[in-house]
Amino acid sequence: MTSGPDRYPVDPARAARAHMDRAAHEAAAIAARETPEAFWAERAKRLDWFSFPTRIKDVSFAKDDFRIRWFEDGVLNVAHECVDRHLPARRDETAIIWEGDDPKDSRRITYGELHAEVCRMANVLKAQGVAKGDRVTIYLPMIPEAAYAMLACARIGAIHSVVFGGFSPDSLAGRIEDCGSKVVITADQGVRGGKVVPLKANVDAALTKAEADRVIVVRHTGADVPMRDGRDVDYATAAAGVSDDCPCEPMNAEDPLFILYTSGSTGKPKGVMHTTGGYLFWASWTHELVFDYRPGQVFWCTADVGWVTGHSYVVYGPLANGGTTLMFEGVPNHPTVSRFWEVVDRHRVEIFYTAPTAIRALMREGEGPVKATRRDSLKLLGTVGEPINPEAWRWYHEVVGEGRLPIVDTWWQTETGGVLVSPLPGATELKPGSATKPLPGVELQIVDAEGHELTGAVSGNLCLTDSWPGQMRGVWGDPQRFFDTYFSTYPGRYFTGDGCRRDEDGDYWITGRVDDVINVSGHRMGTAEVESALVLHEAVAEAAVVGFPHDIKGQGIYAYVTLKAGVEANEDLRRDLVAHVRTEIGPIASPDVIQWAPGLPKTRSGKIMRRILRKIAENELSNLGDTSTLADPGVVDELVANRPGA
Ligand code: WTA
Repeated sequence: MTSGPDRYPVDPARAARAHMDRAAHEAAAIAARETPEAFWAERAKRLDWFSFPTRIKDVSFAKDDFRIRWFEDGVLNVAHECVDRHLPARRDETAIIWEGDDPKDSRRITYGELHAEVCRMANVLKAQGVAKGDRVTIYLPMIPEAAYAMLACARIGAIHSVVFGGFSPDSLAGRIEDCGSKVVITADQGVRGGKVVPLKANVDAALTKAEADRVIVVRHTGADVPMRDGRDVDYATAAAGVSDDCPCEPMNAEDPLFILYTSGSTGKPKGVMHTTGGYLFWASWTHELVFDYRPGQVFWCTADVGWVTGHSYVVYGPLANGGTTLMFEGVPNHPTVSRFWEVVDRHRVEIFYTAPTAIRALMREGEGPVKATRRDSLKLLGTVGEPINPEAWRWYHEVVGEGRLPIVDTWWQTETGGVLVSPLPGATELKPGSATKPLPGVELQIVDAEGHELTGAVSGNLCLTDSWPGQMRGVWGDPQRFFDTYFSTYPGRYFTGDGCRRDEDGDYWITGRVDDVINVSGHRMGTAEVESALVLHEAVAEAAVVGFPHDIKGQGIYAYVTLKAGVEANEDLRRDLVAHVRTEIGPIASPDVIQWAPGLPKTRSGKIMRRILRKIAENELSNLGDTSTLADPGVVDELVANRPGA
């Protein structure tokens, strides 16, 4: 199924009932560009503001006048938007469908119940001394309490930092420390694919390195976990003693809503900070537009709430829109590789949103496990997180969607808060592998390495020339890093870090990162982070990490390791290094390939030539480029000759 049409026109019946058809899309793009104040003020009415903003947009990307502010004097509360405002009409409608790791476990939570649960969690936080502006770390599995905890923080004006349950105690400690959060909300254990994740034990380990006053423990599996007197709080006990009503704190639009750590090309992961008004607006508007969403439809985004996709399209977008969001604790291949489609059938899912890596993994299992299910409730499919190869796109379209469902390939980033480039189901002709067109208000520019704008059908680096409401507002604790990372490479523009091609129709094709970030199964990983983890090992003198193409993961992690003098390279050490990285960062950072490197290619000034290391990892050996500037060109021949599999 590698061939098929290159274009899939919009179904006119769909266009007729869509939130936005092609004409409306084009008109909106023009209005957003020409009369931004009026355009966004009108759109902002979708939120139920306590005080509607009069100042809409105040933006400059210039170095000496840098500011990004949206809806600046607006007042609102995100928990009110996602819960309370829906109570009159939707109190008994389902807000969250929870599907456990074990197919026998599922639950429905109505908006009325959600309100009570969020209020209780908020009151427990208050009772533990959490106040507006305080940071709270959330380290939970995919259980409804994760959504309660996020919304409880929003309700009282606390800033949450959700840390993915797959991160190690060390990674967790770094994140707790960086944002100075005094409270951690966790569970006894998580379960994924039948395997237990020792969350509370990880928190205990993390708190030997970072400080927190309180650990609130949700009982999930019921395992007996040690509780430390004076620090650890049993959530159920605490919740039993508080009211199920809690007022919403009035928040300014520019007050921080959350911090989410993400990998960059240098240094430690940075705390991407999003604010209340702009972020929520963007999550809500894009959720409605891109998925052509209407309340009553069951929406399932398979991402974990530990990633931005889970923030915007498991929790905030769907709930702000009064929708029904499905939260899945498990994995696609447990107990069988039909699991996704069984869940779709059981809960009558209408919109399904996942990552290309999951599609590729399921594609390998053949059509049988898909065809064993009906999937007749589905109306729309989506992908996110990495480029989707046309072959996987076609399989998703033909096999999962029976050839009848549009696919929205959505490009965006932790930094962007929500989708920026995507087809709209009622407006955009689809092309397998292309994220197609920017949303209204999203001003893309492709530039060359020097920052010159490239016009027409070209390839280059992707920038944005103007702000959008969902844009991140800062790096927690390091304002300068925000400007330096995103606005200094190409002055006056936001640089995405992605490469991109624009075709003759003006459609965009994201080609992947052009910096030292790699995308492993849709998860961002800084090569510098993996390198720092490797050099912490006593046997390692130096390490250089690059990405290489991987059939399932999109990119795999390829590590060149120079050992200390006298250390013997062998299989045991290789396994030990992989285990070491898992302990330092988490399983998602496990190197796929470790190559022993007696030397690394360096310039005379000592800079590692990653370009060459990438080529060797990609097995592009005929095209290594100029090696004459290397201090010792001989190391390249050595690496090529000893490439694993060479
Ligand atoms: C990549 C995830 C191609 C891209 C929402 C981006 C994509 C990084 C797509 C952000 C897509 C995301 N097509 N590439 N549809 N979506 N990416 O911060 O390289 O985890 O810069 O946000 O994922 O990853 P992040």
